[in-house]
Amino acid sequence: MRKKVIAGNWKMNMLPNEAIEYIQEFEGLVKDTKNEVILCVPYIDLFYCLNSAQGTNIKIGAQNMHWEEKGAFTGEVSAQMLKSIGVEYVILGHSERRQYFAETDETVNKKIKAAFENGLKPIVCVGETLEQRESGKTAEIITTQTRLALDGLTNDQVKNTIIAYEPIWAIGTGKTATSEDANNSIKEIRAEIEKNYGKDVADEVIIQYGGSVKSANAKELFSMSDIDGGLVGGASLKPDEFAKIVNFDK
Ligand code: PGA
Repeated sequence: MRKKVIAGNWKMNMLPNEAIEYIQEFEGLVKDTKNEVILCVPYIDLFYCLNSAQGTNIKIGAQNMHWEEKGAFTGEVSAQMLKSIGVEYVILGHSERRQYFAETDETVNKKIKAAFENGLKPIVCVGETLEQRESGKTAEIITTQTRLALDGLTNDQVKNTIIAYEPIWAIGTGKTATSEDANNSIKEIRAEIEKNYGKDVADEVIIQYGGSVKSANAKELFSMSDIDGGLVGGASLKPDEFAKIVNFDK
């Protein structure tokens, strides 16, 4: 049985003092859940969040990293740096990074490899645009993104990759994929993994849904056969709302 993994993606929100207050409130609200709880926060908040989350069941992740270990890459942060302060997870290939910061399937693949080399667990985002969906290309786009992202990884590494299926038209728009649509897309991704890495791996890999998840739709989405939790943007910014999503099964 795969567990449910629910990750918040704060994007470029929350000052350190707000982050500390958030975790102080959030911690008590999610302490009894069996689901895995992750907060992916801006670099500037990482250290504060790691300190505040110590001794709780809240895991901390970053939202991006560079694939090189060190060197002349002004403004970048490496996997080794994240690991050195105790970060456990990192979002890679988010559609906003693909769209605004020239992230490609190739750089996403390099970053995933660097994450594993440094003991970080990647949360890898894939998803189609509205135009691609309307022209019937959803399955082709998301299976290609998945195949290229995971290219060259070992079976064990693939098992430990979290994939977030995030249809781009559903991100921050209030439009959610229907639970059936989201589940079907996730089944396509799982089938692609089975084709390349075998059924054992495909049955274990956590695949989340993301795109306008909120407390009002979390239970329906996360109860589907292949949806193993969610990557939550806007609704993760309020501790009580995000806690309701984490506690969807209570
Ligand atoms: P949203 O963002 O929940 O605000 O739609 C999800 C994401 O971009 O990860």
